[in-house]
Amino acid sequence: MSRKAFTPISLRGLELKNCFIKTATFEGMSKKGVPDDRLFDLHASMAANDVALTTVAYGSVNEDGLTHEDQMVIDDSAIPHLEKLADAVHEKGGKISIQLTHCGYFTRSTRYQSKKPLGPSKTLNKYGLMRGRPYSKSMSKEDITRTTADFARAALISLRCGFDAVEVHMGHGYLLSQFLSPAINKRNDEYGGSLENHMRFSLEVIQAIRSEVGEEFPILCKMNMEDDFQQGFTLTECIKAVQMLDEHGVDAVILSGGFTSRTPFYLMRGEIPLKEMVESETNYMQKLALRFFGRSIIKKYEFAENFFLDQAKQVRQSTKMPLVYVGGIISSQGIEEVMDAGFDMIAIGRALIAEPDFIKKIKENTEHRSPCDQCNICVGYLEKNGMKCVL
Ligand SMILES: Cc1cc2nc3c(=O)[nH]c(=O)nc-3n(C[C@H](O)[C@H](O)[C@H](O)COP(=O)(O)O)c2cc1C
Repeated sequence: MSRKAFTPISLRGLELKNCFIKTATFEGMSKKGVPDDRLFDLHASMAANDVALTTVAYGSVNEDGLTHEDQMVIDDSAIPHLEKLADAVHEKGGKISIQLTHCGYFTRSTRYQSKKPLGPSKTLNKYGLMRGRPYSKSMSKEDITRTTADFARAALISLRCGFDAVEVHMGHGYLLSQFLSPAINKRNDEYGGSLENHMRFSLEVIQAIRSEVGEEFPILCKMNMEDDFQQGFTLTECIKAVQMLDEHGVDAVILSGGFTSRTPFYLMRGEIPLKEMVESETNYMQKLALRFFGRSIIKKYEFAENFFLDQAKQVRQSTKMPLVYVGGIISSQGIEEVMDAGFDMIAIGRALIAEPDFIKKIKENTEHRSPCDQCNICVGYLEKNGMKCVL
């Protein structure tokens, strides 16, 4: 196993014991926004098992940013929970980050401030169709300014609660990613048209966060290399966008892909857990639609170890800024390959859901492979029972 992977790393002065990040995987452990013991245990166990930086998800920057009700809003009400999370992880010798996000138009939440879901442009919101939230509203300049301030406030709260870093979610079809996607962003103002304009909102968010948290606090961004549909965000655009993030003082970029409302399994690959998704669905009409049309609506992508590596290498060749690889890490050989390709850090999802001690196991035994078979039932039951591996 590569010694490099276990060498300590410094990210804007934050000392990390190795290169491994527990990537953001919405845990589904915060009923009505209040986390239960499982959330604290999960992140403490990551720290206890040699994950250098564990990432809490979903940290909505305001109520409009919730995809549904059972997620945390990072405002004053979250302070006691965030403090407890940070303490639990620090006690075990780890570091903790939170993914700050806003869902844009992709919502079915009944907790919101704006009457209509917010997005770059007016769009049909299939996800919220049966909850009376069928169309998004094109965000006004005031909506953008207010949301930018909410990102900055959420980052400051996280810092004050003892978090070691924040991750801005610019990928997977959430709000900032909707602004980046030419298929979704049809604006004619300074936030639409060119890549520079599509990036404007994200860069304003980063600047606002930086001015709140100061110069010593790491900011990571997770973004798409590709949306994977026509007129979606492309790898060429990603390469230029990473350059802009570097110029704006972002400390590391996590390279992913896919769009939750259109190509949800592009970011994970493997089986579509349709049976479990149907069981978890609480809306009768949506349940029927999923049962009968699910197979034809949801596109399947075959899993391969390190499935994003070819694209990620192209970004790697274009910049010297710290880059985090994510996608299909299941073995020490795979990790070796990613380190050899020059990535600074590695983020892992399902292998750590299946085995919280995956890092320890591969360190002790280079032949070890994750038992995760990408059944993705951890995703299927997420909203019903919380994230859990069924193996
Ligand atoms: C149960 C589950 C929940 C996820 N939730 C999020 C999320 O909240 N935010 C995010 O950026 N990615 C999310 N993802 C995607 C992962 O962060 C990661 O990009 C993807 O699973 C690929 O990594 P892996 O092959 O190591 O699992 C989720 C994945 C899973 C399996």
